[in-house]
Amino acid sequence: MSATGAAPVANNLEAFFMPFTANRQFKKNPRLLSRAKGVHYWTPEGRRVIDGTSGLWCVNAGHGREEIKAAITAQLDEMDYAPSFQMGHPRAFELAARHAAMLPGDLDHAFYCNSGSEAVDTALKIALAYHRARGEGHRTRLIGRERGYHGVGFGGISVGGMVNNRKHFGAMLPGVDHLPHTHLPGKNAFARGLPEHGAELADELERIVALHDASTIAAVIVEPVAGSTGFLPPPKGYLERLRAICTKHGILLIFDEVITGFGRLGTAFAADYFGVIPDLMTVAKGISNATVPMGGVFLRKTIYEGLMTGPENAVDLFHGYTYSAHPLACAAASAVLDIYKDEGLFQRCADLSKYWEDGIHSLRDLPGVLDIRNLGLAGGIDLEARGGVGTRGYATFVKAFELGLLVRQGGDTLAMSPPLIVGRSDIDEIIGIVGDAIKQAA
Ligand SMILES: Cc1ncc(COP(=O)(O)O)c(C=O)c1O
Repeated sequence: MSATGAAPVANNLEAFFMPFTANRQFKKNPRLLSRAKGVHYWTPEGRRVIDGTSGLWCVNAGHGREEIKAAITAQLDEMDYAPSFQMGHPRAFELAARHAAMLPGDLDHAFYCNSGSEAVDTALKIALAYHRARGEGHRTRLIGRERGYHGVGFGGISVGGMVNNRKHFGAMLPGVDHLPHTHLPGKNAFARGLPEHGAELADELERIVALHDASTIAAVIVEPVAGSTGFLPPPKGYLERLRAICTKHGILLIFDEVITGFGRLGTAFAADYFGVIPDLMTVAKGISNATVPMGGVFLRKTIYEGLMTGPENAVDLFHGYTYSAHPLACAAASAVLDIYKDEGLFQRCADLSKYWEDGIHSLRDLPGVLDIRNLGLAGGIDLEARGGVGTRGYATFVKAFELGLLVRQGGDTLAMSPPLIVGRSDIDEIIGIVGDAIKQAA
């Protein structure tokens, strides 16, 4: 390589250590995407691939949106960067006011960061700081859930419940406990929408409270619909019960809406879909349509105000990122809010969700299909393992890509979450290809 590193060797895939990837396997047989528009990607050879996963659950308004590009470009021309520590820039305040206006209940304040992982760690820290500020600094325990995914920070993996994301990384945060997951295929297999059974699993929080005492517990964090573990909608009534138990014991409820936020269920947030309002909400991904990395934590008024009780000249929260409320991210996030509104994309998602449900459940009799779940414009398909855990899932994912579809695979589960701009014919294409991939990889 040259001294500046400016002249990489063509087609040398070695230097990039790819995240969440089997690097050696990938580099022997790479899958590259080099162009995107609307609901499609193209490979460097010009092969078209329909995006069944909105990238990584993030390109909700579809690829290559000119409006977002124009907003980012205009912002870049005006001002590239401004700090948000003891300084501000107008776009951050405008964006927070817009978010507050669209959020349910008294979720009236926004703290910005750059990813879902940062949002989760921020929310956990806000919960601890809030309790401390009101004289309940003994509330330090954090409760997550088995099979939960809350990103890859140490806070997120501690409350998370996906074993491979945890087991390599030592002891993590102390004082963390986990609720049981809600995946009950024995009772709920092939449920359409919310499964019937399992609301009582929320009562496990009472058991945890009895064990540790409520006075030691700061917060419970769950994904309203667990995404990365294979898309698990909550059992009917589960979130309502969790909310009631948290309220009863003064425990903050955090909804991790990194994938459910910004329209995935046909409402702005899962909190709207379920009519259950958390104390804190984490978001990322669809917040900026993935054009400029951004995450956020939305807080109830009471929590924000609870953190405003020190001297007026004292910093309220010793936390923040150089790129909190980055002007380019704020410009992108504002432009995507316009798109969501002008094109009615959340309602479009709601309107298409039944068609999607019928489509994905039409695959139930294919070889090796053990379970199918859906909600909004997303779904998961469990395949029977064959030749070791994940082998069949991977083979099906690769086959789908060869046939022209991007899906997400974890173990032997396929997850799909197409952009909210898809039409019925796109859904037909996605379902057709995933069905062919399941058959051909069987
Ligand atoms: C529910 C949830 N929380 C947090 C994250 C982490 O987000 P990021 O990858 O932006 O750090 C994800 C990512 O998929 C997620 O699904």
